Amino acid sequence: MCAKPRVLFVDDEPYVLSGLRRMLRDQRRVWEMDFVNCGIAALEKFAEQPYDVIVTDMRMPGMDGAELLTHVARDYPQTVRLVLSGQSKQERIFRAIGPAHQFLSKPCDEQMLVRTVERACGVCSRLQNKSLQKIVSRIGVLPSLPQLYRRLVEELESADASVDRVGEIIESDLAMSAKVLQLTNSSFFGLPHHVTCPRHAVSMLGLSTVRALGLSAGAFAQFEPSAAGFSLEAAVQHGLAVATAARRIAESEGTDSNLVDDSFIAGLLHDIGQLILATHLSRTYEECLQLSRAEKLPLWKAELEVVGTTHGEIGAHLLELWGLPTPIVEAVALHHRPGQAVGSQFTPLTAVHVADCLQNGHANSHPHVVMDEQSVASTDPGELSQAELADHDLDLAYLSMLHLDRRLESWRQLSNPPPITFNFTA
Ligand SMILES: [Fe+2]
Ligand SMILES: [Fe+2]
Repeated sequence: MCAKPRVLFVDDEPYVLSGLRRMLRDQRRVWEMDFVNCGIAALEKFAEQPYDVIVTDMRMPGMDGAELLTHVARDYPQTVRLVLSGQSKQERIFRAIGPAHQFLSKPCDEQMLVRTVERACGVCSRLQNKSLQKIVSRIGVLPSLPQLYRRLVEELESADASVDRVGEIIESDLAMSAKVLQLTNSSFFGLPHHVTCPRHAVSMLGLSTVRALGLSAGAFAQFEPSAAGFSLEAAVQHGLAVATAARRIAESEGTDSNLVDDSFIAGLLHDIGQLILATHLSRTYEECLQLSRAEKLPLWKAELEVVGTTHGEIGAHLLELWGLPTPIVEAVALHHRPGQAVGSQFTPLTAVHVADCLQNGHANSHPHVVMDEQSVASTDPGELSQAELADHDLDLAYLSMLHLDRRLESWRQLSNPPPITFNFTA
């Protein structure tokens, strides 16, 4: 029998702890829970036996929540770190933006708390590799494209900054979009439901919060991923092209606006795992590239051989930790292997899988990899037969299981030519 997941609650207010104990009494069947009233006591409990999930208050005498989570992130990186805090002081919460995975606000209803902790307990099911789990768990921020980062800072610092322009810049960058959605999908900001459109998220947060996040809280960063052969600009371009095509495909199916938004953001973020590998495991990523080139393998298959998993699962693990909605996490996890999904309906996974394959058909099979001119010239972006599409990883069996294989031709029209040429230097 599997051991119960272990969950630690930390709050200096005795009435909050007793309220949590009462509220979660029924969960004793499924979780092993402890309740302590300060950071020092929490670390002592960790030293006895680590926890799967920690839920901490922010404002506590002595060691506050941000400091406690920084210790936990350093010494017990596999623990999922949640903040449960009052909404009074945003600056205090912003200190936890690096070390916390998700934010919940007090008062938090039972359903929301149980659902969030339950999901956090199962977060490692997609990514079994423990050392990768540790690396991903410590990620607070991923690199943004320098041009976009500079444009965002200029816009936020300008006297007539506009929500629309800020939203547009954030929506063009996958690291910024992922970060904003991490924060807006937390109940901390009191947003009524999951928000998966970055522009919408920015307008709901408001300019002053986004300004604080961007200029002082360190929510965004610019630095170059160190893997040789990885182009951040090409990765961002590819993410946007897939996102735009996925949105068009979802719209063409007459799906509701949430599914259209989810398809866009899942498209934008689908290769975030490659950004993680290129930034935090650059030698391993280079090894994957070499194998992929030498054996003419799709990059994800080379990753399976070298790392034992793919950038899909690695990226999905981060987004799961950050609390992004499940359809987006699933689309990112399975975009190269959609046949592994359960269900037989059109989802963001369908849109992203098709959009990615069609975009790869327009460019090359590893669009973030800097290719030599000869290789680029030898790629024919023109008419692609069904067989050629299959060569580009399109899972025709999956599409026919969904009774959507006949839609392929019209989806190809939507993605051909590639939707938008992006100019990041403007
Ligand atoms: Fe991919
Ligand atoms: Fe891709």
